[in-house]
Amino acid sequence: MTLLDVGCGEGADSVFYARKGFHVTAIDKNETYLKRFRAYRSDHGISNITILERDALEYGYPRNTYDVISCILVLCCMKRSEFERILEPMKRSVKPGGLIIMSSRNYLDPELKDYKKTQAMIEPNTFHKKEDCCRFLYFIEQGRLREVFSDLEILYDFEGYAPCKYNEHPRHGDSYLICKRPA
Ligand SMILES: C[S@@+](CC[C@H](N)C(=O)[O-])C[C@H]1O[C@@H](n2cnc3c(N)ncnc32)[C@H](O)[C@@H]1O
Repeated sequence: MTLLDVGCGEGADSVFYARKGFHVTAIDKNETYLKRFRAYRSDHGISNITILERDALEYGYPRNTYDVISCILVLCCMKRSEFERILEPMKRSVKPGGLIIMSSRNYLDPELKDYKKTQAMIEPNTFHKKEDCCRFLYFIEQGRLREVFSDLEILYDFEGYAPCKYNEHPRHGDSYLICKRPA
């Protein structure tokens, strides 16, 4: 089974998937994260992860190729319009019958109020990020993930709160979706 991890960061999810037996292709544009990820991979003798420095907006997304595409907390690091640009290529890149797993910070996020008060909105719900890894921060709107994947079969759909994965905030507004490309 093949899996593409889009915006893999330091690779925690890729490692999880690799340990479940997937052949993982992991892409990210942040070389610092990828360096740490490569070191971890070699320290732990993991052979079924290919790590590539790539911009998710420029990646080729080969057609009908992956059993699973996982894109966790990455679309919230893009502009809304950029996220929309990669949707169709991603949908075509997963095999018929394959899965797409997406998550994003969303409209419920406590930080959104503060961003609205203090920052200019450059696109709907999109801001320049104040700190950290990425230049942009997009808080996905209510129902938007479900809407953009409505041509796929939705298997799991969550909108609510989730603990911060990196322990930097008490909690985040979180949208999460798992969907299946029709066979
Ligand atoms: C919040 S981190 C999430 C990392 C990982 N998916 C996780 O859940 O731990 C966002 C990641 O998306 C990557 N990213 C953002 N925009 C990207 C782009 N256009 N192309 C590739 N990676 C991107 C960042 O470099 C960063 O590693």
